[in-house]
Amino acid sequence: MLLEMKAISKSFPGVRALSDVDLALDRGEVLGIVGENGAGKSTLMKVLAGGIRADAGQMKLDGEAFAPRRPRDALDAGIVVIHQELSLVPDRSIAENLYLGNLPAKFGVIDRRALDRYAATLLAKVGLKVSPRRLVRRLGIAQQQLVEIARALSREAKLIVMDEPTATLTTAEQRTLFATVAELKAAGVGIIFISHHLEEVFEICDRVTVMRDGHVVETRPTGKWSEPDLIRAMVNRPIESMFPPRNVKIGETLLEISHLTSAGRFADMSFQVRAGEVVGIGGLIGAGRTEVLKAIYGALPSSGEIRIAGRPVHTATPRQAISAGIALVPEDRKGEGLIMPFSVGRNVALSILSRISALGIFLRFRRMEAVAMNAVGAMRIRTPGVDVAVSHLSGGNQQKVVLGRALSTEPRVFLLDEPTRGIDVGAKVEIYRLIGDLAGRGGAVLVVSSDMVELLGLCDRILVMRTGRLAGSLDRSEFNQERVMELAALT
Ligand SMILES: Nc1ncnc2c1ncn2[C@@H]1O[C@H](COP(=O)(O)OP(=O)(O)OP(=O)(O)O)[C@@H](O)[C@H]1O
Ligand SMILES: [Mg+2]
Repeated sequence: MLLEMKAISKSFPGVRALSDVDLALDRGEVLGIVGENGAGKSTLMKVLAGGIRADAGQMKLDGEAFAPRRPRDALDAGIVVIHQELSLVPDRSIAENLYLGNLPAKFGVIDRRALDRYAATLLAKVGLKVSPRRLVRRLGIAQQQLVEIARALSREAKLIVMDEPTATLTTAEQRTLFATVAELKAAGVGIIFISHHLEEVFEICDRVTVMRDGHVVETRPTGKWSEPDLIRAMVNRPIESMFPPRNVKIGETLLEISHLTSAGRFADMSFQVRAGEVVGIGGLIGAGRTEVLKAIYGALPSSGEIRIAGRPVHTATPRQAISAGIALVPEDRKGEGLIMPFSVGRNVALSILSRISALGIFLRFRRMEAVAMNAVGAMRIRTPGVDVAVSHLSGGNQQKVVLGRALSTEPRVFLLDEPTRGIDVGAKVEIYRLIGDLAGRGGAVLVVSSDMVELLGLCDRILVMRTGRLAGSLDRSEFNQERVMELAALT
């Protein structure tokens, strides 16, 4: 055995995050771990990586007792974790990030060009086509994720943990990553793969462990799990169909975009979204999808025209966009979505704060709490209370807070960037239902998603972007995975 974890337990104030967890991993094996948001997956990996000390339990690595006191100890032992929350230094270049904490002592005298060349080979391995000199700050979230993976590859690891590595990747990058996993496996590296995309888990894992409420429910060889079994073990309650049919009357054009252009990012985007309609935007990473949403929201400079219900609106700033009835759920929840030290309640209430502050402090507090409680209930946010700091929630639950906040503003135009990134199957159903309700009440919904199943299942129409332009628009009656990919990839 490469790794054995025995009877690991860990509590945080108000939560038993891990109880008596056993886990084993062989060399050259890929072990999947699945479970709902807050089940304890990341906490278990942090114990393994020396980021958190367990309250109880033992570990063995290569048959010897292993008790890392800090992340450095785990790294030195050959354990590399690609964390769910990205940990790159934004103001350094890609190449520098690749070597950070990993540099040969005499960095000063090292040939920069040689470093760049080596960095370029690593980037090629993960399919990222940008210069190693580029600052990480200038990369999209999915590109940053690829840099994290490249950095893990640069270290001589015997065990690699990937905590939701594919959450933001599109099909093409996902293929590249899986080829890399196969290579590592062949070289005898043990891999722990955490994902909410069950089809991926079925594809690359040898065994799958299900966690729930801090316990291991069961581990089986992948072939012995069926998807319904796996979901049942994860959520412990019946799940309705993923995409309930919507019987919505599609109304008049609500959002109308004409010749929207943001220099160097995308150009000449013209399209409409009608009341009651859910329109998806597909395309490869870097096609400009996120930028279009940001421009509509006033978070990026742009030219062109935006009309809502026929009236031109001016959205030079997000504040103007919000008062025009536009809400955005951003892709980067850590950077733009949440204020980490603030409580769940304050984060949920954040964007309605200005609207309700006129009612006075007391009312504001009561209202905030009510809104927060509502969101926590409706979205099954797993938290000991609304007054807990958002930084203490699991990754998926943080994402739900961002969504809950946007929903609480009751917008007419709803812009969603990767709304279910990192969200478990059970909660996805809730979110799809909420999106359907928004459209059902006459809202216009525009969704950027790299999850093909989601795009096809959720949307009435799919716009496909390719290198900053609209490559095509497909109606529900004519779209399928191949057509979307075709439009996205043609050059
Ligand atoms: N630093 C912390 N302080 C307090 N509670 C924490 C802390 N870290 C995690 N928790 C809690 O421990 C539980 C398990 O969280 P964990 O991050 O391990 O979940 P997860 O299975 O990785 O979920 P996800 O799928 O959302 O990433 C959650 O209830 C979470 O709120
Ligand atoms: Mg996690």
